[in-house]
This record gives sequence, structure tokens and C-alpha cells, in this order.
Amino acid sequence: MMITLNPFSELAKTVAPIFMQSFVILMITLVIIGTLVDIIHKKNVKYFFENAKKAKKSAKKTLSTKEKTSVVIKTVAQDILTTSELGAGKRRAAHLLGMYGTIFFWSASVIMIFCFSSSSADTPIVWPILWHLGAIMTCVGGLWFWLFLRVDVYAEAHPWYRIIKADLFVLALLASSAFGLIWSFLQSLNLNRWDDTFFLILFIISNLTLFGGVYWSKFAHMFYKPGAALQKNLAEADGSRDNLPPPADAPEKFGLGIKREQPKHY
Ligand code: HEM
Repeated sequence: MMITLNPFSELAKTVAPIFMQSFVILMITLVIIGTLVDIIHKKNVKYFFENAKKAKKSAKKTLSTKEKTSVVIKTVAQDILTTSELGAGKRRAAHLLGMYGTIFFWSASVIMIFCFSSSSADTPIVWPILWHLGAIMTCVGGLWFWLFLRVDVYAEAHPWYRIIKADLFVLALLASSAFGLIWSFLQSLNLNRWDDTFFLILFIISNLTLFGGVYWSKFAHMFYKPGAALQKNLAEADGSRDNLPPPADAPEKFGLGIKREQPKHY
């Protein structure tokens, strides 16, 4: 059955594992280069550290190592692993599906390509299952987001088929998981036809787009967001609050108008 078959060990009958391993290393290199160029171009990390240094001046207390550690643990457990920034609801559910799906898909790819990619490999069943499950979760979460939740559609009433540069990340992510699944399915049928190779090529192109497009896409948010969440939590714990005023100590009276419509015109 497709879901229990390691597609890379099947592929090894025609493509030497060293090529697959080199491809993974190339993808990792592309991510590092894309992110570094992005950082240099936007100066976002420079701003981030300057801002953090400035905020520190208004800190009300110096955090001990123990306090800092507990802020780091809380940030990882809450802000990062559950993307709490997205609040309760569909947006967070879709993101969690896509994020964990992608993490499963990528981890299983690396393990299968580096440890079990010879054609005689005896792959523990957990890896192909995680790979296929991850790809399916990414497709569900990504499509849900792209068709219904992305701001252009949800708040601005643009049709779902209108594609702009900002869709590069989510569409390349969707394409790579969908083409990966189709390729694996066709290959598992053992028909020796042209179509599994065709989808393998599409899988390769979508990966090149996803990992080669980091500079132009939102890929790097998966590195920036955790950093920003940590800084926010540290600034809260040391009382500097990023130089923002504390919440008012008064009842929340906004009038009835605020109940008229969910805020979504951001
Ligand atoms: C493997 C890791 C991750 C993947 C695959 C992923 C995937 C995605 C995708 C596809 C989008 C939609 C992008 C778009 O606007 O077109 C997105 C948005 C977003 N991501 Fe991630 N993400 C990851 C990690 C994270 C982490 C670690 C955080 C926060 C700690 C985060 C926070 C967000 C937020 C706040 C948005 C905006 C959501 C919205 O507009 O509804 N992501 N992510």
C-alpha cells in the first residue's frame, strides 16, 4: 500500500541515493542563503536587536537566568509549538495542520533519504506513514488557508483564484506536498509508465521553487516569528514592554458599535 512504502527506496532503483542526498543538502543551502540575503536586504534582524537594546533601557527588573529560562520554555511550548498568536479558531487550526504536516513531511524525507534510500532498505513503517500523513495534513491546512482564510479572500473579497507574489510560499508548499503524494501513489502502482516520472519532475520543480524562493516568499517567517515571540515575552517579563504603555486599568467600554462586525479589515 502506498502509505507504508518508502518512495525514495523505490526511486533508488533508477536514481542513486547520493543524488537524493545532494538534493536535500542543496535545498538546505538555498534556505540558508535566501534567509541571509533577506536579512541583509530588509535589515530586519538589525532593527530587531537595536529595538531590543533600546527597550532594555526601560526594563523594570533584570531577569535571572532561571526567569529567562522559564520565559524561553513558555515561548517554545506556547507561542511556537501551538502558534498561539493566531488565537482560537480556524486560522490557528489550519496553521497547525500545515505546520505539523510540513514538519512531519520534511523530517520523514530527511530520515528516509539519508538512512533508508537504498533499493534494498528495510524502512521502519513509521517513516513512510509520517511522510504521507504529513503531506496530506499540509494539503488540507494549506488549501483551507488559501481558499478561505487568506486575507485577500476573507477580508478583501478577492476571488480565490487571484494569485499574487505573496502566495508564493503557500502555493509552493501545497504543490510540493500534492505532487509528492501523486508521485508516490503512481510509483506504488508499479505500472512502469511515464506518469510517475512526470510527477517526480513536478515534485522536484515545486521543491526548487519553495526552497529557492525564500528571498521572495514568506518562508523565513518560521524563523522570524519564534524570535519575535521570545523578545515579546522577555520584554513583558522585564517590564520594558517594548516601550509600549501597560493596558489601561479601566473597564473595557467600547460601545455597542464594536459588536457590529468581527474585526477583519486589516
Ligand atoms: C514548518 C513551520 C511552518 C510552516 C510550514 C508554516 C506555514 C505557514 C503558511 C503556509 C502560512 C500562510 C502564509 C501566507 O500568508 O501566504 C503561514 C502564516 C503564518 N504563520 Fe506559519 N508556518 C510555520 C511556522 C510558524 C511558526 C513557528 C509561527 C509562529 C510562532 C508561525 C506563525 C504564522 C502566522 C502568525 C501566520 C499568519 C497567519 C494568517 O495570516 O492567517 N508559523 N504559515
